[in-house]
Amino acid sequence: MENKIVVNSDVIQGTINRNIYGHFAEHLGRCIYEGIWVGEDSAIPNTLGIRTDVLNALRKLDIPVLRWPGGCFADEYHWKDGIGPREKRKRMVNTHWGGVIENNHFGTHEFMVLCGLLGAEPYICGNVGSGTVQEMSEWVEYLTFDGESPMADWRMENGREEPWKLKYFGVGNESWGCGGNMRPEYYADLYRRYQTYVRNYGKNKIYKIAGGANVDDFTWTEVLMREAGHLMDGLSLHYYTIPGDFWKGKGSATDFTEDEWTITMKKALQMDELITKHATIMDQYDAAKRVGLIVDEWGTWFDVEPDTNPGFLYQQNTIRDALVAGVTLNIFNDHCDRVQMANIAQTVNVLQAMVLTEKDKMTVTPTYHVFEMYKVHQGAKKLSMDINVDSIKIGDQSIPQVTASASKDTDGKIHISLCNLDHRKASTIHLDMRGDISLAEVSGRILTSSSMDARNTFDEPDNVKPIPFQHYSVAGHTLEVVLPAMSVTVLTIC
Ligand code: AHR
Repeated sequence: MENKIVVNSDVIQGTINRNIYGHFAEHLGRCIYEGIWVGEDSAIPNTLGIRTDVLNALRKLDIPVLRWPGGCFADEYHWKDGIGPREKRKRMVNTHWGGVIENNHFGTHEFMVLCGLLGAEPYICGNVGSGTVQEMSEWVEYLTFDGESPMADWRMENGREEPWKLKYFGVGNESWGCGGNMRPEYYADLYRRYQTYVRNYGKNKIYKIAGGANVDDFTWTEVLMREAGHLMDGLSLHYYTIPGDFWKGKGSATDFTEDEWTITMKKALQMDELITKHATIMDQYDAAKRVGLIVDEWGTWFDVEPDTNPGFLYQQNTIRDALVAGVTLNIFNDHCDRVQMANIAQTVNVLQAMVLTEKDKMTVTPTYHVFEMYKVHQGAKKLSMDINVDSIKIGDQSIPQVTASASKDTDGKIHISLCNLDHRKASTIHLDMRGDISLAEVSGRILTSSSMDARNTFDEPDNVKPIPFQHYSVAGHTLEVVLPAMSVTVLTIC
């Protein structure tokens, strides 16, 4: 069969919200401490306590939005412990993640400084599970109140005169699990109550995000939309790509079989079905698509690296992770009518990270490169595509060998991202470019490798990195591209 993708360059299907390319950083393992925050007195070069090498790497991703402080940690976090002079801040135990001491040195001010340095919008997740309405309400007041008020005065005493702009606020995390083990009816009522006191002060207008479903818990989405849909701007969804079993063994990040490769791809593709089904329920209550689906935790989740703290969720990152990222981002682009934000878990040293650190060393991961290559889709117009490609067989089921996404940016440039999920076979694709378009100037970059477990290490940080893409030819309005096995390619047509 001829592999053919028709790109309808004059059929725009919506705008890809740049927040789909968002990130998530939790007080978990070495994500915040060591990975991001080293403190101003550290021997590791830093900018206001934030390590400069990590900051510089992350800046290249144009991170639109950063979620914090959790995750499960959010429902144990009491923000007042993390403000004021650092040496006086309360030391607590991070009971959920490894039982280590949390010294609260990275708190509200430090997070807002980080967002400022990254140019990212802050997305703060409040504590419903073990916190009070008053505590949540006062956090928003502390951050955003302009004028005289108890919390605004306290913020000023702590060195911040101006209120911050805070748009995104989550009311609890995983309230069906670590955030309180609630039933959807109970959480829906709590959501209604807590969100009432998440106030808009002055010109600050908060986009309120309700805690959403785990994977395929469609009842949760149904109940939340029915009981509280009118009081929310976004509803979250969490889905992780786990090749094995969450409890019995998720599978190794680096030592896996060919079958595990393909199963991982199949599981990553499941995101499409999940979004479609959750969005269909949302449509019943919100046909106008006012409420965004916020996939604020996604990514690969493997067994931790041998000899590391099981509570730290540290895993390596290979070309397989890069494919999961590319495939998933193509899916989000495709659903840009409903998916308004997504946050990969997690930025540094945890799960599917962008960056890995070890003391003063740092390397970026294959996943990082996918985010860097795909940033051209941020805020662009999504173009319609008809995709007809070979399949990969898995038992009596199959998955597409290639997934793709196309967009047009504000300069009129077209960007096409293509993932070849097959770990063995290359794919020759005919891209039929319909519409008023010239193929005079085509360029591209590709991320690939000849081995399934290729990764970057502190000693070999450039093992997996993008290179110019040259395997294409143009004939009239058709662009023929040869995508090697296990590759992520982004083309630009000017
Ligand atoms: O990202 C790791 C954890 O996964 C988060 O803390 C939690 O929300 C989810 O279960």
